[in-house]
Amino acid sequence: MSEQVLKDGYGRTINYLRLAVTDRCNLRCFYCMPEEGINYVRRSELLTYEEMVRLVHLLCELGVEKLRITGGEPFLRKDIMDFLRMMSKSALKEIHMTTNGTLTYQHIPVLKSLGVQSVNLSLDSLDSQRFFQITRRDSFQTVMKTFHRLMEFEIPTKINMVVMAGRNTEDIIPMAGLAEKYPVSVRFIEEMPFNGTGDTPVEPWDHVMIRNRLEQHFPSLRKIPTKPGATASHLHVDGFEGNLGIIAAYSRTFCGTCNRLRVTPKGVLRTCLYDEGVFNIREIMRQGATDTQLADLIIDAVAHKAKDGFEAESQRSRLSESMSTIGG
Ligand code: 5AD
Ligand code: SF4
Repeated sequence: MSEQVLKDGYGRTINYLRLAVTDRCNLRCFYCMPEEGINYVRRSELLTYEEMVRLVHLLCELGVEKLRITGGEPFLRKDIMDFLRMMSKSALKEIHMTTNGTLTYQHIPVLKSLGVQSVNLSLDSLDSQRFFQITRRDSFQTVMKTFHRLMEFEIPTKINMVVMAGRNTEDIIPMAGLAEKYPVSVRFIEEMPFNGTGDTPVEPWDHVMIRNRLEQHFPSLRKIPTKPGATASHLHVDGFEGNLGIIAAYSRTFCGTCNRLRVTPKGVLRTCLYDEGVFNIREIMRQGATDTQLADLIIDAVAHKAKDGFEAESQRSRLSESMSTIGG
């Protein structure tokens, strides 16, 4: 196979893979799962570690340079560190991880030594009770320990806070305060309709409301430039060590520069967070497809990528998925 680049029908280069390695999670975040959890995919339906390695190598040949490992909670997957080790030897230029921070602490030195570029840590409140109400688990102290160890090992860290009316809006300013003291990027995310129930957020807090709240408290708040393909609008406050960001995940203001491809734990290829999935890579692999056949299917899927998340959403049936089955 010759070196080529994945391009969609709008001329966008797709070079970033978000790979969800499991749909399992040990938390039950309100915006992601119902209280009783979701029906997990059977292990035999998950992409195996070898299949994931094959997929990444193939995508590297198609120009993918950046990988984010997500879930569910990626550290729940037994072979995750072996997979990471393999990935650190691949042609990828960047490897990032998203984690809820509950099982991460012990792995931090290895993440550092394998050169994981950054970690996104989900943290929706700085108050242990509110943390419990949102995640339905009592893990606040554990997650904070992970945060401090990430700082200690100087791993570039982004904090992801999903902003929810009536649940954690009082945490916006204290959370932003973490970026005053630490060199972290604190990102406020609009809640999306992926809580596994099909219910849409009652009263979504949008990016404008979040920005207004921040501006009221930090008058020196100003926009700073973003890297191409970024979903966050980046903000800085005078005297802060780190930065702030707002991700209009529901308003979808960033689709025009999208560079992502997603693969779900089952191996379903998605060209948009809001689409229904294009085809199942695991099935194609297990039917004996060659790399060239697989590459052709991926190239074709990307070429037909929706213009934006609204178009993708309008082409699908119902949003009753949990984010843990898609991988953020
Ligand atoms: N809305 C917004 N973000 C979500 N995430 C998961 N579910 C949702 C949702 N419904 C994101 C959060 C979390 C990461 C694992 O996935 O950023 O930190
Ligand atoms: Fe788990 Fe992440 Fe879903 Fe929370 S958002 S339940 S941490 S997968």
